[in-house]
Amino acid sequence: MTQNSAHASHLILGVCDYPEHVPPDRWEHYAKQQKALGLTHVRLAEFAWSRLEPEPGAFQWQWLDQVIDILHQEDMQVVLCTPTAAPPAWLVHAHPEILAVDAQGRTRTFGSRRHYDFASSVYREHSRRITTAMARRYGRHPAVAGWQTDNEFGCHDTTRSYGPASAAAFRAWLQQKYSSLENLNAAWGNVFWSQEYTAWEQIQLPNLTVTDPNPSQVLDHARFASDMVKEFQEEQVRILRECSPGRFVTHNFMGFFADFDSHAVAACLDFASWDAYPTGLLETCSFLAEDLKHKYARTGHPDLISFNHDLYRCLKNNKQGFWVMEQQCGQVNWAPHNPLPADGAVQLWTAQAWAHGADGVSYFRWRAATMAQEVLHSGLLRHDETPDRGHLEIQQLQPRDFVPGEVPAQVALLHDAESLWLFDQQRHNQHLTYWQQVMLYYSTLRSLGVDVDVVQPGADLSAYQVVVAPALTLMSEAHAANLKKASEHAQLVFGPRTAFFTETGQAFDKGQPGSLSELLGGRLKNFDSMRPTLKEMLGGYEVTLWAESYRLQDAQALHVYESGPLAGECAVMQKGNVLTIGAHSPGLVHDLLREVALQAGVSVLDVPEGIRVSRRAGKMLVQNFNAYGVDFLGTRVPAVNFEVFEDT
Ligand code: GAL
Repeated sequence: MTQNSAHASHLILGVCDYPEHVPPDRWEHYAKQQKALGLTHVRLAEFAWSRLEPEPGAFQWQWLDQVIDILHQEDMQVVLCTPTAAPPAWLVHAHPEILAVDAQGRTRTFGSRRHYDFASSVYREHSRRITTAMARRYGRHPAVAGWQTDNEFGCHDTTRSYGPASAAAFRAWLQQKYSSLENLNAAWGNVFWSQEYTAWEQIQLPNLTVTDPNPSQVLDHARFASDMVKEFQEEQVRILRECSPGRFVTHNFMGFFADFDSHAVAACLDFASWDAYPTGLLETCSFLAEDLKHKYARTGHPDLISFNHDLYRCLKNNKQGFWVMEQQCGQVNWAPHNPLPADGAVQLWTAQAWAHGADGVSYFRWRAATMAQEVLHSGLLRHDETPDRGHLEIQQLQPRDFVPGEVPAQVALLHDAESLWLFDQQRHNQHLTYWQQVMLYYSTLRSLGVDVDVVQPGADLSAYQVVVAPALTLMSEAHAANLKKASEHAQLVFGPRTAFFTETGQAFDKGQPGSLSELLGGRLKNFDSMRPTLKEMLGGYEVTLWAESYRLQDAQALHVYESGPLAGECAVMQKGNVLTIGAHSPGLVHDLLREVALQAGVSVLDVPEGIRVSRRAGKMLVQNFNAYGVDFLGTRVPAVNFEVFEDT
């Protein structure tokens, strides 16, 4: 990649623009205004297929040629998108078989976006065709800095399709994976409820079953669907690399989205991007307490945003940096409530993105749409083209402090999509999800002022002092070996439900935590899934929702339950530098993580509620998310703010 964004001297600022939504006489004016605002990159065309190819094979490039040339004249650069997130009406009409089918068996119809099945060979062909045409036309244009594939894979619940194309591809995928039905029947435990298959054609997709479908089948279906997204992306990337040498290729992922394995899907990209909508993320968050939603209504919760920054920064093992491809810069329109952001929030979000490793932040969108589904969504310009609040904030932004460089994380937090698929499928407690458990540990670390890399359990862990694995419920032999290796130099912390399941989604038949029991020094004895009104005690800490106890082998009991059915049993066990916490207890997790960090030599700062610190490139960003509250010195401030210090 010759145009590596990481080589820019400071944070790249850009905007998502839709010249096809406005008369051509606005284009030049907008380009000049964007430049004057300090923006250097404009993302284009991710939903423009009907204007690029209004009829089969009859391409209309002139308008986009003109837009790109205008931007080039202003020295602006372009991030061009393949427009496959919105197949046009003529294509759907000619090939209705490309349409996705939802889990209720209903065919999704034309009239919004993302209505295709990733496994459809017909759609794959059209995706390659339009990608090739665009890449040939613009791949070598000097203004084109890079590409975004499609748009937000999986948005609107579109990763998994339940139609004939996916059913046939799923069977082929299974045949390839298992070779024989005997293997498949054993892997899925199909003797249970007489689910055994005697011919491949008998296998259906796991929807519309009378009660829960077989979890091992659901796990394989999730893996299959993830592979389809990966293949779809790889086909486009191959073409872009060939026709557009030296340009970056990225994709805009979404916050807390794991219907596919984003690590695998990002493998062929130069760097990952994600779309950050802090107030939307907060409003649609299923696990954040109502009082916190209220407190952070105008800023978003800092940890919901930074977790995704930390995840996408590390999505590529070489940590090539990342972009926020769509950054909220005003109100959104799609959450249950869509408050105006606090004064200063757009600047704060931009600074926070930089401090967590972003090389580019591109605001969504330039001008508020005057037509169709998103007219109530803000842009940098209002409908009447006057500058909106976000525009004014960007004008005052001083990006000179935002220099590139390393995020010096000494702590790794492990996230694993396959564990999420199993965890949330058999939650056992409707109030405790995978993300909730992961975010308890992540937020605790951030409240201790600790920088965190969010990485997968197979990643190289050699650089970390502490490795935290809050919810690795699926444990492969390879991951177990990697964790064992990490224990030779790092402090390890495991959360409840660790290594409950084998790779095929069955319980370890010698008990939990399967192949990790030697490392952890004990075995799972009992688990208790509590209704929210129940609480038990442990050394002064409250335990809610989940409690599990251990039979010790060569670990020591650090904490013992004092009440409830597990009274007297071990809740936290420690074997050398490996700690296993069986209780869901925010207070306990806080004190234990603090202790572990200090022991490992990681510096800890007890930051007040609403304050966060993040380090990058020898600097420390102090962020104040207390909209209309007190700042970190205790004085009352009118709005959120931030400050950059030397990190000494
Ligand atoms: C994103 C999407 C954009 C736009 C935006 C509105 O999820 O990629 O196209 O719809 O949301 O907030």
